[in-house]
Order: sequence, then C-alpha cells, then structure tokens
Amino acid sequence: MANAKKVWGGRFQKPTAKSVEKFTASIHYDKRLYQYDIEGSIAHAAMLAKQGIIAKGEAEKIVAALTAIKKDVEKGKIAFNPSDEDIHMAIEKELISRIGDTGGKLHTARSRNDQVVLDVRLFLRAEIDNVLSLLKALQSQLVRSAKSEIKTIMPGYTHMQKAQPVLLSHYLLAFWEMLERDGQRLRDCRGRVDILPLGAAALAGTSLPIDRSYTAKLLDFPQVSKNSMDTVADRDFIAEFIFASSLVMMHLSRFCEDLILWSSDEFGFVEISDAYTTGSSIMPQKKNPDVAELIRGKAARVYGDLFAIMTLLKGLPMAYNRDLQEDKEPLFDAVDTVKDCLQIFTEAIGQTKFNAARMYAAAQGGFSTATDVAEYLVRKGVPFRESHEIVGKIVAYCIKNKKTMDELLLIEYQKFYKGFTADIKESIKLEKAINSRSHKGGTATAAVLERIREIEKNSGNI
Ligand code: ARG
Repeated sequence: MANAKKVWGGRFQKPTAKSVEKFTASIHYDKRLYQYDIEGSIAHAAMLAKQGIIAKGEAEKIVAALTAIKKDVEKGKIAFNPSDEDIHMAIEKELISRIGDTGGKLHTARSRNDQVVLDVRLFLRAEIDNVLSLLKALQSQLVRSAKSEIKTIMPGYTHMQKAQPVLLSHYLLAFWEMLERDGQRLRDCRGRVDILPLGAAALAGTSLPIDRSYTAKLLDFPQVSKNSMDTVADRDFIAEFIFASSLVMMHLSRFCEDLILWSSDEFGFVEISDAYTTGSSIMPQKKNPDVAELIRGKAARVYGDLFAIMTLLKGLPMAYNRDLQEDKEPLFDAVDTVKDCLQIFTEAIGQTKFNAARMYAAAQGGFSTATDVAEYLVRKGVPFRESHEIVGKIVAYCIKNKKTMDELLLIEYQKFYKGFTADIKESIKLEKAINSRSHKGGTATAAVLERIREIEKNSGNI
C-alpha cells in the first residue's frame, strides 16, 4: 500500500519521492528536541485520560512506552532516518511499533502544529535558564576581577583617543551592567516563552473535551495561550530570544575587540593566557588572540540567525506554514553559539593578566587630566567655556614646548590665568582625577567599591 508507513498516508495514492522525503525532513536537526517531545506527549496522554478521551490503562501504556523510548534514544538504540520526517513522527512511529493501536491514540486532539511549538517552548525555556547561568558566571568573574584590580588605573578612551583616566574596575563593571541588561531581557523573553500552546491543534482547536490548564500544570507552564491561530503561527518568542542573544554577542564582541587591541605589542595592556591563545603556523613568535577574534566573528553568525528568523516570518499568511520548520536551525545555532562564547570568554577573562604598569603609564600621557584643570578653574569661579579655552591654550603650549602638564611650573600656569595656585599640581594627578569623580556611577575608588557592594548585596552569592 502506498505510504503505508506514513501516519498521514491515508489519502495518498503514490509514495513520496525519495528526494521530497529528504528535502522536507527536519529529523536530522529537530531530533535534539526528543526529550521535550516525549515530556509533552506524556503530559498530553495524562490529560486525555483524565478527561476520559482515552482510557486510563491506555495512557499508562503510552507513558510507559514513551519512557522506554526516551531511554533507548539516550542509549543510541533508535536510528532516525529521513523517512521519519521529523522528531514528532519518529517518536509516534516508534510508539505505534511498540504498543500498536493504543499508540495511535496519543495524537488525539493534537496536531504537529501545536506539538512543535510545545517542544520548542520547552526547549527554549530550559536553554534560557542555561544562558542565564552562564551570564551570571561571567558577571561573577567580572566582579572578582574588578575587586582584584581596584587599584589599577587605565586611560579611558573616546574616539579611540585617550580621554580621561578611569579605574580598570570601572571598565570591567561597565560590561557587568551590559550583561545585567542582557539577563533582564532574557528573563523578560522567558515569560513569553513560558506559555502552553498545546490545544491549538492544527489552528482551530479541537472538538474533544480537553483540559488545557491541566496539561499546563503538568508541564509547569503558568499560562495557556489565548488564541489557537496565533499559537501555531507565532514565533515571536524565537525572534526575541535571538535578538537578546545578538545583544549578548555584541557585548562580548566589543569586549573582545578591546582585548585584541590591548594584547598587541603597541598597547601591551593585557596578556591573555597561553591556554587561551594560539600560535601561527609560520611565525614562531606569534601568540594570537584567536578566541577573542572568533567570538567577535561569531557575533555575525547570531545576527545572521536573527535575520533568518525575521525574514522567515515577514510574509507568512495565517496560520501555520511549513516555512516555519526553518525556525529551528537559526534558533539552535544562536543557543549553541551564545552558550559556547559565554563559557569560553568567562574562562579566558579569568586567565587574563592586566599590565597595571603599562596602563598607568599610558594614562599619564595624552593630557588625560586636562578636563580636571578646566574643572579646577571652574571651582575658582571661571565659567566653564572660558576655562576650556584657557586649558586648550595650556595644552598647545605644552605640545610646543614638549612638556607634560605635570612638568609645567606654577608661573607657567599663571601666564594663562593668574588665579592658579600651587594646588594645581595635585589636581592633575591621576589618582586625584579619578577619586574626585565620586558621584554615583563615577570612577572614584569609593564609587566603584560602592557599586560592587550593591551588586554583591543584590545578587547575594557573587
Ligand atoms: N516539522 C514541522 C515543523 O518543524 C512540524 C509541523 C509540521 N506540520 C505539518 N502540518 N506539516 O514545523
């Protein structure tokens, strides 16, 4: 009989072309959803029995067989092949081959259209938790580094030009803040993932007396979806997750860009551990920051995943369309990439040595405390625009005479403004410049330590 083995084969006269089987199959990648598919089916069977749609004994048989199938998949005992089409069909086929007609009752009041969304939601809910703990681990590492580098002074940059001195800890905690927002976004997204889709069936629900709240309770979903058509058409939660992941990758990529620059001979600000760098096949002296470069590169992959999902969705008519099968590879890729990158970056940053002496020396150059001189004059009553002009002239004088502001004599300062007094020398010290920025969010040691205390208090366990 044509298509005898296909669960949907009833109306077909000819077998599916081999090329079509291969082309339409998603089993080679959606097989990673197997545990969620089985978990969802177990809950569904229990609900069907509770509602009297199938017999209790039948549900027990189904649940026992599904549990055994799960173990066998884990042991690699079940071979999936393209004729199985997707993980839902593969498991159902296996079930029916084990328990016969009873197995055929599992798909009552359900369609693959709501089933696949269920699997993906269960998968993503778990993976978001994994990403969140990796984010937290990186944040903890940053706090540890910020504490141990609390005395390290570096030049802060704008336009990639030396701007003002800052604490390295302040720099590190800037990334902590970015990752904190990433965590907030992911938790927010998780709330929209955590919704039971089952019951929507193909698109219009079912005439059978299901109890969706019961299934939701079994699967620990706080909500059930509100519209059956939206339920099978919606992939917003995937797009949201990939967007949130894109931002995580962007943050890591920016951090990596600094580390790549800083590990160059020209900067010499950091030394990434040998264990997290690689060599060149031709130049024996090379120690390359490949891990950081690859993370920067992999940000592009995740942006690609985001583009794929956004483009996939934009022209789809209501409700389910097979195009939606293309949602999983970008999602899986984004999950895997963001997790890998967070993991390895956390390891690498923990093994990176900061060269405090080089950073300090660099912070001393470039007239990085010129703004402090301008603010010194403001304290003497000079309007800021005027003091800016005066200090600009002092800088030009220093450049012309090959002097630093530290080397200028008081009388030289006074040539530009009579009110300069001896304390100007103190005002342009890096430590003084840093510690005078003691307001909330500033780079003063006290302000940074205060932020660390706040972070530790709020997260309890860092
Ligand atoms: N493999 C499909 C997907 O990932 C499952 C749903 C298929 N539904 C259908 N009616 N063909 O979207």
